[in-house]
Amino acid sequence: FTPKCLAGQKVLITAGPTFEAIDPVRGITNHSSGKMGFAIARAAQEAGAQVTLVAGPVHLHTPRGVQRLNVQSAQEMLHAVTQQAPAASVFIATAAVADWRPAHSAQQKIKKDGSGEVPMLSFVENPDILATVAQSERAQASDLFCVGFAAESHDLLQHATAKRVRKGVPLLVGNIGPATFGRDDNALLLVDAAGHRELPHASKRELAQQLVVEIAQRLPLHSKR
Ligand code: C5P
Repeated sequence: FTPKCLAGQKVLITAGPTFEAIDPVRGITNHSSGKMGFAIARAAQEAGAQVTLVAGPVHLHTPRGVQRLNVQSAQEMLHAVTQQAPAASVFIATAAVADWRPAHSAQQKIKKDGSGEVPMLSFVENPDILATVAQSERAQASDLFCVGFAAESHDLLQHATAKRVRKGVPLLVGNIGPATFGRDDNALLLVDAAGHRELPHASKRELAQQLVVEIAQRLPLHSKR
């Protein structure tokens, strides 16, 4: 682990799931634990970066020295990220953002009226936070290095390669293996313009430390120093 390889960098990270309200007591979410994102936040902070972590609803302690902003929905996450991104030099999107949200969130709890009728939900698409940031002027000018994640059930390399181009990011990280949700270990596939390489099975803590080094090596400023 290269000490302080991110010194002077400002790293913005999204982590966890989002929660999309149906009414004040119900909503739609997913099983993301946030562990990978929190591990990266900790590793980046230990590598000397100033770290801001935008977290969806998760049960995890904030890593020491990390600024944490809690959000619920994808729209709130986008808002927080949009506010923080202009100050960042690295953006790492690990959050499992809900693809859709209910088109209408009821102000009051939807009541079961005994008639057996069920509510009909319709959905609208959520903003793509990573793609939005990756299209920003600073990202396009390589002042903001963007990293995306991918969780795929099959053909990871193919999907991760396509996703990197589609999202417009220099580095896309694939979760190798099925359902890493909630686990403390993982293996990662790194895909960039030059090709791909694997970070073999290890704890998320170790993988986060390795990923931080990989990111540091790819930073334009870093290579010029
Ligand atoms: O398209 P997909 O959800 O598979 O892309 C995953 C990557 O994009 C992750 O880095 C995730 O954090 C990010 N993402 C996002 N906003 C969305 C959907 C995904 O930032 N609405």
